[in-house]
Amino acid sequence: MLILGINYLSESSVCLIKDGNLQYALSEERINRKKNWYGIPYLSINKLLKDCNLKISDIDYFSTHGLSAINKNVPNLNDFEIKKNKIKNSLLNEKKKRNLIKKINERKDHEKKVIHKRTFGILKNLKKKFKKVEIFDHHKSHAASAYFFSNFTKCYALTIDGWGDNASSKLFYCSNGKLEELRRTPTIDSLGYFYGSITKLLGFTPHKHEGKVLGLAAYADFKKAYKEISKLISFNKKILNFEGTTEKGVYLPSFNNPNLNYLLKRFSKAEIAAATQKRLEDVVTDYIKSISKKKIDLALAGGVFSNVKLNQKISELNNINNIYVFPNMGDGGLSVGSAALCMNEKKGIKKFKYKNMYLGPKCSQKISNKKLKIFKMKRIRLSPLKLYTYIGKLLHNNKVIALVDKKMEFGPRALCNRSIICSAKDNKINIDLNEKLKRTEFMPFAPVVLKKDYSKYFYFSEKKHINTFNMTITVKCKKITKKKAPAIVHVDSTARPQIVDQKINSNMYNILKSYKKFSKIPILINTSLNVHEEPIVSNENDALRAFKSSNLDYLFVDGCLYTHDN
Ligand SMILES: [Fe+2]
Repeated sequence: MLILGINYLSESSVCLIKDGNLQYALSEERINRKKNWYGIPYLSINKLLKDCNLKISDIDYFSTHGLSAINKNVPNLNDFEIKKNKIKNSLLNEKKKRNLIKKINERKDHEKKVIHKRTFGILKNLKKKFKKVEIFDHHKSHAASAYFFSNFTKCYALTIDGWGDNASSKLFYCSNGKLEELRRTPTIDSLGYFYGSITKLLGFTPHKHEGKVLGLAAYADFKKAYKEISKLISFNKKILNFEGTTEKGVYLPSFNNPNLNYLLKRFSKAEIAAATQKRLEDVVTDYIKSISKKKIDLALAGGVFSNVKLNQKISELNNINNIYVFPNMGDGGLSVGSAALCMNEKKGIKKFKYKNMYLGPKCSQKISNKKLKIFKMKRIRLSPLKLYTYIGKLLHNNKVIALVDKKMEFGPRALCNRSIICSAKDNKINIDLNEKLKRTEFMPFAPVVLKKDYSKYFYFSEKKHINTFNMTITVKCKKITKKKAPAIVHVDSTARPQIVDQKINSNMYNILKSYKKFSKIPILINTSLNVHEEPIVSNENDALRAFKSSNLDYLFVDGCLYTHDN
């Protein structure tokens, strides 16, 4: 059975699941080159069918999410009434109460408009075009992406995001291929909006730059602004759920929240970021502690779990046996979650797998002479045997190499198939490379490390291990890492490594092995290859533009090495 999964929200995407195997997945932004693009991913659907040699009629079912739009049960009026009653019964003055209730009604109208008009319209179009479309709940689709691919027999699945369908978070108990909903957090108590509001307050773009807040957080003491930030959102032990306070208005439909401006007058940006990160960690870990006193396996998905430090904190909890974060944890992963739910429903399949996250289109094998001439590039001709020795030496001599190899990654992380790699020996590379790439980052570049050397440089934990293949978690660095590869160690002594295994990525394995021979270090920097503010490159044309615009030193495309022709 073939199921084609579709996500039409931010980072719209498609996937193909054949029985229990995820065979192909692609985000529309990589094809239309518009970052975080949303809408029906027609280009990716066509690309998937072409790359998999299929026709539309070969697909048994199409799957997607947005169940509440079909059932018209958003907004959840009860959630809004509870919130409004709390305001009415509070000690706030009448003017403040009126203003807050007005904002809550605005939020309610916003949700109604999004679900009843935009989402309903999209689903209607999908049904008209593809006929056999199965629609699932937004958060259940997130949970399914994590549970079905986790390898856990029984587990809990926790989802947290901005909002989707009628919730901003859900908890499921998952067993025997079934997901039982246990808890739901209203859309107006959203942790995604909490973090996004602060992202906006600090001058960054919500939905895009949350990672900058996380990076900045390590530069200040969280205690300074913690009391104020804690007033925004809590874990309510009585209702066992997250609860946004009405006073500061974290529930605003836009991330722009003028009620928070006073924070900038009292605290530095780093202090606000540090307190925000700590509050997120505290409320989420309190929630998880309340799930069970016994040790549990926990599957995680939803945009909030792109926060790698939060994932580290969760993995360190006493009641956690193991965690699994779905590598495309944001809405991009909803194509996969909905397709797995559909396959489970239609064929009773209970376990799903992917070989690795290289699930997208392949790059071309060779750049034509015509293209090389246009981009003023030349090929360096070397035998396969000498190629890796040459690259190892280049990296040891601090050259920066763009890497485009085989199939593209699915998800937010570049896993060395659409990456830039260079030595991590000198901390200065963080400034130089960010300048070249026109990026402002507070977190250092992430490392890529050989599997067999991992535990020499990073503290090994079985709980984090599976997640380190896909860069979904931070880990503590050992002393030797600071000495040998200081450029990848954050000020709080953590890093977000990608483990490289020969079976998963043989070219990167050979490059690292060769670099290690020259430098005695099995670690390189790995960062995404893209033109400034564009999505990660898809094919060799994008790669040539990214390479030239950042003036990198060498370009590796599927086993061939190129450089500037001057
Ligand atoms: Fe979501």
